[in-house]
Amino acid sequence: MNVDNFRLQLGGKEYVPIIIGGMGVNISTTELALAAEKLGGIGHISDALIGYVCDRLFKTSYVGRKRKHYAAYSNNPDKSAVLFDLEELAEAQKKYIEYTVSQKTGKGAIFLNCMEKLTMNSSIETLKVRLCAAMDGGIDGLTLAAGLNLRTLDLIQEHKRFRDVKIGIIISSVRALSIFLKRAIRLDRLPDYIVVEGPLAGGHLGFGADDWKKVDLQSIFTEVLAFLKKEELNIPVIAAGGVFTGTDAVDYLKMGASGVQVATRFTISKESGLPAEVKQNYINAREEDIVVNMASTTGYPMRMLTASPTLRYAIKPNCEGLGYLLENGGTCTYINEYYQALAARKPGEPLVIKEKTCLCTGMANYDCWTCGQLTYRLKETTNRLPNGKWQLPSAEDIFLDYQFSRDHSIKLPKPETIS
Ligand SMILES: Cc1cc2nc3c(=O)[nH]c(=O)nc-3n(C[C@H](O)[C@H](O)[C@H](O)COP(=O)(O)O)c2cc1C
Repeated sequence: MNVDNFRLQLGGKEYVPIIIGGMGVNISTTELALAAEKLGGIGHISDALIGYVCDRLFKTSYVGRKRKHYAAYSNNPDKSAVLFDLEELAEAQKKYIEYTVSQKTGKGAIFLNCMEKLTMNSSIETLKVRLCAAMDGGIDGLTLAAGLNLRTLDLIQEHKRFRDVKIGIIISSVRALSIFLKRAIRLDRLPDYIVVEGPLAGGHLGFGADDWKKVDLQSIFTEVLAFLKKEELNIPVIAAGGVFTGTDAVDYLKMGASGVQVATRFTISKESGLPAEVKQNYINAREEDIVVNMASTTGYPMRMLTASPTLRYAIKPNCEGLGYLLENGGTCTYINEYYQALAARKPGEPLVIKEKTCLCTGMANYDCWTCGQLTYRLKETTNRLPNGKWQLPSAEDIFLDYQFSRDHSIKLPKPETIS
């Protein structure tokens, strides 16, 4: 038995039950998402740092304009006045979504990973704009992630696509699910799918920095299925976090999952946005090089490679141009740390910032090497080249391996010669 024996039914359509998860700031690129879509699965793009991503893709100047507009605040720790222009935000979002969905060629779908913890100094207003503009741009589905907001569905209920766009949530406990569902039931708008993300995932985690080792995906997944059964709710459940082989996926599909969401294996694909040399770092990582820390300013634990340059950052906050992680009121824990460290520094000493990192800058520069726990197994998935580097598989290679492999085998990409 392999994954191809199963199909994901969603809103009257049928998909190969493999979803490539969203990986913020353009690690899950348009090209990566389209590779899944072409093969009949579901690919995510992420709208984290959308203005910045547009500037890189389309040579727009959202970040430069914002930075210029708020230049006077660059030495001021109070960033309360540094706000996003909502019209520009909508424009950027729509542009990116249209660009991606207009290139669809297959029978799959393109969803947006919307990290709600990107509070952007005006969490509710910016979230509403992001979601509405994504629907305007023709996105097939919205996956609400990190920092689920109970008001999210209320915010977009007037949109004409509210009942037709697919809406999913990522949760890591029955508790979070049941709280969200209470609100959803009141609006008569249940999620179309539920991603249960366990402790081995990449990015931000829905567990404490220390307690992720005490829980496992299978237990949470089983609890979620039992809860939905008890509540007589028939909502497809997707398993995520540590599904490394096609056989891992089959195990969850047999247990009642409608699909799996995977990401780590695709971080090293040719289509992933990570720079080529960073991909080599991911493949070379050993288990002891992977840590869960509290360096993210979101307040959530995040998994990273210890070599992640962000862990040694002591840069000036970049909120005038970026500012995606500013809490309402214009605060960010990194700003506090930066100014405290600056005040405490003795002349001639280097500036050292220990607890937090400037995640906006780190994500923009691909300096935050967030990763899944099983990153250390990536070596099993590709070929070593004669020059000592690793071959980068295509997203199609990885997707088809998930779809057709059996018995925990991993099909390596066809060896390529290097010039
Ligand atoms: C490099 C990387 C970045 C990620 N970024 C995000 C993100 O921005 N938002 C999100 O909801 N999940 C994010 N994730 C989680 C994935 O979407 C996915 O659910 C999870 O990693 C699946 O587990 P796996 O990586 O073991 O396959 C990220 C994962 C990785 C590996």
